[in-house]
Amino acid sequence: MNLKNNFTGKIFSTVSRIAHETGCEAYAVGGFVRDLLLQRECKDVDIVVTGSGIDFAEKSAEAMGLKKVVVYENFGTALLKTDDLDIEFVGARKESYRGDSRKPEVESGTIEDDRNRRDFTINALSVSLNRQNFGELVDPFNGLDDLEKKIIRTPLNPDITFSDDPLRMMRAIRFAAQLEFTIERTTFQAIIKNRERINIVSKERISDELNKIVLSSHPSSGFRLLMDTGLLHIFFQQLAALKGVEEIEGKGHKDNFYHTLKVLDNVAAVSDDLWLRWAALLHDIAKPLTKKFDPVEGWTFHNHEFRGAKMVKHIFRQLRLPLNEKMRYVEKLVLLHLRPIVLASEEVTDSAVRRLLTDAGDDVDDLMILCQADITSKNEIKVNRYIRNLKIVKEKLKEVEEKDRLRNFQPPISGELIMQTFNLQPCKTVGIIKEAIREAILDGTIHNEYEEAYGFMLKKGGELGLKARN
Ligand code: CTP
Repeated sequence: MNLKNNFTGKIFSTVSRIAHETGCEAYAVGGFVRDLLLQRECKDVDIVVTGSGIDFAEKSAEAMGLKKVVVYENFGTALLKTDDLDIEFVGARKESYRGDSRKPEVESGTIEDDRNRRDFTINALSVSLNRQNFGELVDPFNGLDDLEKKIIRTPLNPDITFSDDPLRMMRAIRFAAQLEFTIERTTFQAIIKNRERINIVSKERISDELNKIVLSSHPSSGFRLLMDTGLLHIFFQQLAALKGVEEIEGKGHKDNFYHTLKVLDNVAAVSDDLWLRWAALLHDIAKPLTKKFDPVEGWTFHNHEFRGAKMVKHIFRQLRLPLNEKMRYVEKLVLLHLRPIVLASEEVTDSAVRRLLTDAGDDVDDLMILCQADITSKNEIKVNRYIRNLKIVKEKLKEVEEKDRLRNFQPPISGELIMQTFNLQPCKTVGIIKEAIREAILDGTIHNEYEEAYGFMLKKGGELGLKARN
């Protein structure tokens, strides 16, 4: 197969000329070639050359009048940025990894060595940039066949490939999820066999792959593979603990792992937001901790939303996810995930809607997405009822929002003003009056505006035996 029509840019002709002039070989490799054949967009290309990748990059930059070459001495690579593409040059290598670390000891090798060290057949495809066969696809491991059959397979014995770099076990699952491919049997078995080696990989790298799985179109497929290979138990035991059904007196509960995956897929169908997807993944995380069997009620998971919200920080820390406002957003959604549905199962009062709106703030729309995604019952009548009621909640939310502008509620009367009015120093009474005003607004006794709130404050102060200054 010749792909020269896809390599028409100036960069490729320059690389080809320099390869010719310097007597080196040059090939485009890896993800760029794979994505080209899959017709997926790809903005970076890796170019493997014999000899020094850094020297080659510098020559190419000079020839193209590009100033900036970012050199990574340790890895023997160099990056050139052009308007359309980022190009990374690397010298062909025979990579070896020390047993206890995945830091490569870079050892140069032939183009063939370089192909042998790649992770999957579909990533070992390369395209010649050499003058004599420019554009020709080089496919030593039948990667094209695997691309067509949608198979992830290692080029060499998978035990070697995975033990060389255990991150590849995560990558196999990530590619399977992202591309909707199947992991070939021997490759899959080797992940099971080598899974403990994942412990030598940094948490950051694991989470990078995990996030790519979370962001794929049907993330559940990746999480099933993580579960079935046993990898999930190693780095994310809280999620793995959701799996299983217990039965007492003939009553079972639903399997919370598969339920969670369904919720995640439901969210993924309507939102690309990574953190909303994380909220879906963690919404029931405390169910194993709170599970109880009651002869009358059956299985209960009381307070799992509170306990779950408390677990978020620990899990984010464990997985090296950011401990910032993204984490707080996930905490909030886990904490509130039952609120709209509880509301929908009762009479939807303005007061309850106002409380939901002030607690969720700007994240109320995301909360509604999560809540709707959480309806996974097989009982159609139940599902229809929930969806109908959620619709009422949504309409009410809109109505109350327009009327009361409560989304980011700020009480119209400050503590300062209460102190001035009643000549008070900071004390408990100030808090009591402030809270009473907030409650009155949320209950709908008064509107969310200054005049009414001021009048209410005077009345409340009077009830507490306070005198207003004139
Ligand atoms: N590679 C590998 N083993 C790894 C990482 C990368 O063999 N642990 C090789 C693969 O040939 C891969 C190439 O290096 O195609 C480039 O790696 P990377 O940029 O991480 O991945 P891509 O395959 O380009 O895919 P994506 O950009 O989606 O991550």
